[in-house]
Amino acid sequence: MTVKNRVAIVSGAARGIGRAIAELFAENGARVILWDVLDEGEQTAQAITDKGQSAEFMKISIADKSAVEDAVAAIVSKYGTIDILINNAGITRDKTLLKMTDEQWDAVIDVNLKGIFYCTRAVAPIMKEKGYGRIITASSTTGLRGNYGQTNYAATKAGVIGMTKTWALELGRYGITVNAIAPGYVKTPMTDAIPDNVKQMALMTIPVGFLAEPQDLAVGYLFLASDEARFVNGICLPIDGGYSR
Ligand SMILES: NC(=O)c1ccc[n+]([C@@H]2O[C@H](COP(=O)([O-])OP(=O)(O)OC[C@H]3O[C@@H](n4cnc5c(N)ncnc54)[C@H](O)[C@@H]3O)[C@@H](O)[C@H]2O)c1
Repeated sequence: MTVKNRVAIVSGAARGIGRAIAELFAENGARVILWDVLDEGEQTAQAITDKGQSAEFMKISIADKSAVEDAVAAIVSKYGTIDILINNAGITRDKTLLKMTDEQWDAVIDVNLKGIFYCTRAVAPIMKEKGYGRIITASSTTGLRGNYGQTNYAATKAGVIGMTKTWALELGRYGITVNAIAPGYVKTPMTDAIPDNVKQMALMTIPVGFLAEPQDLAVGYLFLASDEARFVNGICLPIDGGYSR
């Protein structure tokens, strides 16, 4: 699966699934730019460059439209192009419908939906001019099936599937494929906060009988980002151990 020398932005790459994606892409020869709001992104990038691979950290919030546009311009001026955009950054602010505040709703919409719109809109013209691009966005099984306490998150994760299918249609003719991945339960800082008894219950709904490691997701991103996946467009690939079958 070829991503060698491709210039790839991975948002939310300081830790969790994004970190695993950045590491796997760099291992496969991509030049990776890690975006995150956490300073930890610097150490993640350093750990990659220490192995002699290509990585750079930019501290940026994907919800900040002008910061995203400035960062894209800086990348193009340094690397000459952008081939791959991994829209991985995402947040949760869980509450049941009856308890959810406007602030919790807005926070999740701002990052998980608007942020992904800003990033993709900023990068698409560069890919269009080049006649090549791979855009992959993190959805979730919550976007496919809903989840207790996740009105805001479910809206965004279903929303990115709609955006993915629309962009696949609009951009396919320019050599750009646009796909989504719907992770099931993955062991990351995002899910660390979930109580053990809830995790045990979740396990019973996953046919393979274990929770994913971030690397289990990264391989799916690598496939969809590769040159070889050129005929895969507009899908949402669940990687969830069979949960959403
Ligand atoms: N872990 C799971 O079980 C699971 C399941 C389904 C979907 N997902 C999705 O996969 C993606 C990665 O999840 P994870 O579990 O690795 O989460 P995580 O919380 O461990 O990592 C997310 C990263 O995104 C960064 N981030 C948050 N807001 C940002 C912003 N505004 N701009 C830039 N970076 C920002 C965080 O700082 C963090 O480093 C998310 O979109 C998440 O919704 C995760």
